[in-house]
Amino acid sequence: MKANSFRKSILITGAGTGIGRDTAKALVERGHKVYATTHHDAEVASLRDALGGDAEVFRLEITDPQDRAKIAELDIDVLINNAGQGESGSLAEIDIDRVRRLFEVNLFSSLELTQIAIGTMIERGGGTIIFISSAVGRIPFPFLMPYGMTKFALSAAASGLRSEMRTLGKGIHVSVIEPGAFHTGFNQRLWSSRFEWMDNSSIFSASQIETMKSDSTRTLRWIEAKSTVSIVNKIVSASEAKTPRLRYVAPWYMAIVVRLLRILGA
Ligand SMILES: NC(=O)c1ccc[n+]([C@@H]2O[C@H](COP(=O)([O-])OP(=O)(O)OC[C@H]3O[C@@H](n4cnc5c(N)ncnc54)[C@H](OP(=O)(O)O)[C@@H]3O)[C@@H](O)[C@H]2O)c1
Repeated sequence: MKANSFRKSILITGAGTGIGRDTAKALVERGHKVYATTHHDAEVASLRDALGGDAEVFRLEITDPQDRAKIAELDIDVLINNAGQGESGSLAEIDIDRVRRLFEVNLFSSLELTQIAIGTMIERGGGTIIFISSAVGRIPFPFLMPYGMTKFALSAAASGLRSEMRTLGKGIHVSVIEPGAFHTGFNQRLWSSRFEWMDNSSIFSASQIETMKSDSTRTLRWIEAKSTVSIVNKIVSASEAKTPRLRYVAPWYMAIVVRLLRILGA
């Protein structure tokens, strides 16, 4: 990427691991003021050491209203809603409380944090809100629907909020990032979460469950990008753009896959 010619103040949630951590590192290296947040107190010091530069690290559990309120004191140009969790399993039998809790984290808490950021951005005269959604927030993927539905809602929310902010006319931009599969450990936890509760009471047979287990390991090995660089570059581009696009997708072939599947009526 080209050198950064301007410095922004950027807050990212869920920065202790994976894409969030790699993005925080890239933003620090590009000279931005980065508020890197994690929901684990124990992770704060090591994350600060790992990021160095002008990074401020603090605890932000996005479901905790007191933690969310901390950002009202900060001058944030860009909010990156990256924190997220996963749940998988058939919609025919998953305990709906699991789905409800997931919506609380992936959708409602991110929106509540966003509302606070928008308040400060109105006072500051503009800013950018970024939501990290997913390719499965565009294409329904069987057995990943509990997670996929939260990301569908997030992608839709980003698009609608973007238009609302245009109407508001205070210089607030909204973008959504839709990653394909990246090897951060997230997918392994997401795909296997259903096997914590799918047992002989499941409507799926033991042999169907066994096939799902071996299929998921094989599929993930095949589809996951090993490096997060392509998606980190998209998040950095959206953060730095004067007028960011609505949607950023990586790896590049995922944009084609999503388009093709939508044309085919997926
Ligand atoms: N990896 C992929 O292939 C992929 C694809 C599409 C979209 N995404 C999205 O990209 C984002 C980052 O995922 P990743 O792959 O980097 O996985 P990750 O390493 O698990 O990142 C998610 C981060 O969010 C944190 N988090 C979870 N619940 C939180 C809460 N209530 N408050 C604050 N932080 C919380 C997690 O902490 P703990 O794990 O310590 O609880 C973790 O650090 C997620 O939104 C994910 O849905 C990932």
